[in-house]
Amino acid sequence: MCRTAKHPEWLDNAVFYEIYPQSFMDSNGDGIGDFKGIISKLDYIKELGCNAIWLNPCFKSPFGDAGYDVEDYFTAAERYGTNQDLYDLFEEVHKRGMHVILDLVPGHTAVTHPWFRQSMKAEKNEFTHRYIWSDSIWENTAPLECIRGISDRDGSAAVNFFSHQPALNYGYFRPEKSWQHPMDSEDALATAEAIKEIMRFWLKAGCDGFRVDMAGSLVKNDNENSDGNVALWKNFREFLDREFPDAAMISEWGEPDKSLRGGFHMDFLLHFGSSHYNDLFRCAEPYFSSRGRGDITEFLKKYIENREKTDGKGLICIPSGNHDMDRLRRHLDTEEMKIAFAFLLTMPGAPFIYYGDEIGMRYVENVVSVEGGYGRTGSRSPMQWDGGKNAGFSSAPEDKLYIPLDPDTDRPTAESEMSSESSLRSEVKRLIEFRQSHAALQSRGGIQFVTYSGYPLVYERSDENEKLLVAINPSGEEKSFAYSEELGDVLYIYGKGVSKTGETVTVSGQTAAVIRIK
Ligand code: NOJ
Repeated sequence: MCRTAKHPEWLDNAVFYEIYPQSFMDSNGDGIGDFKGIISKLDYIKELGCNAIWLNPCFKSPFGDAGYDVEDYFTAAERYGTNQDLYDLFEEVHKRGMHVILDLVPGHTAVTHPWFRQSMKAEKNEFTHRYIWSDSIWENTAPLECIRGISDRDGSAAVNFFSHQPALNYGYFRPEKSWQHPMDSEDALATAEAIKEIMRFWLKAGCDGFRVDMAGSLVKNDNENSDGNVALWKNFREFLDREFPDAAMISEWGEPDKSLRGGFHMDFLLHFGSSHYNDLFRCAEPYFSSRGRGDITEFLKKYIENREKTDGKGLICIPSGNHDMDRLRRHLDTEEMKIAFAFLLTMPGAPFIYYGDEIGMRYVENVVSVEGGYGRTGSRSPMQWDGGKNAGFSSAPEDKLYIPLDPDTDRPTAESEMSSESSLRSEVKRLIEFRQSHAALQSRGGIQFVTYSGYPLVYERSDENEKLLVAINPSGEEKSFAYSEELGDVLYIYGKGVSKTGETVTVSGQTAAVIRIK
């Protein structure tokens, strides 16, 4: 059984826009995006129809992993502005009737974080066990990798991701070595309390919740059901229910049966692990390619399984992309992307649009890694606003830009996309508007699949007021499916057409339609 937590109602019709702060808009000409730049573009996001924002980490950091290596959780990174600028951003977002969630990174810090500095000391102190340390430099922390030989303290510090990101200590579900603390040890509990302090600070300052980085991996040596991590998050949930019941919590976990049990409101579909998300958009033959050679079967199997495991709630957020994966446009052309967006914007859970995907920004090939981006760097290039200098992103000299721009002279811009009714952005905008006028299509509306493999992809979406049939045919050829219910008006269509003869519905090639079920 899975009970979802009390939930903030605004999540029901939230459509998120993910902002990578480095690359969105530079207001002071230093070549890197900032809070004031974001504020100046909030109307753009609102005009698109998005009503919520996810901001990647924007705190003080040595930026060895683009800010996912936090040095001070309470202070905005100078390059983006001051804490006051961030509070102003919260206020400006709220003024527009929108919401904003921050990125909470509870699993690890930067090596420069004062907690880690203290924990490296030979003398025992409050932070000695804030991180996971083995007892001796000669003992590693397998299966976790470790940092060793950089402290006076005798021991190896476990790392969580890159080797400069030491793992915070939330204890072990099944401790096996003397230095592995149980979850209920004083030090493990102190780590959770310290993270609550951070959440309290930003929620009081006006943020509306968090996207939680690597949420399912805090407690180590967990069992198959992740009972340790679920218990930890239940503890956070009690705190939130008590102090901030309206805070939205969305996990980077990828297993909604576990994350929802832990009290998250929604979970992300991940591009790694068992989700088969990549079968949709990012593989040799993506389902959404017009070649029509993709296979959605395994994706649907997993999706339906997750939905069943969560009492029909699912609540999986399907992103168009994010700062960790290839741009959608690397695999699909803009016509194919329109069909992909018709899917993304008619599925349950809150949709997430990665900045620039709405205008079909490309993956920039062959860029040198920036701040731990490696292959991800090409998806993090500056937003292309217009035809001006540096595509309107920054007034800095071109060689001072944080990441080089897409060098193609024909690169899409927000300006050109907004001036054309037939552009990708205009279609995305229409789709968001359409989703917002039908609660059945939103986060918590029901879903029932009509097809389970092949083309087209067909599903029913419903709430207590209406029942809609969504038929999506990304392939270039006309496709049919059997359907016996009586159909009413076609409420949305992109592509050529959809028709019903007897009990057969036919959908033209590269067409997406939403039809009322009578
Ligand atoms: C997931 C984040 O999305 C990614 O960018 C980061 O590098 C790792 N977690 C480590 O925090």
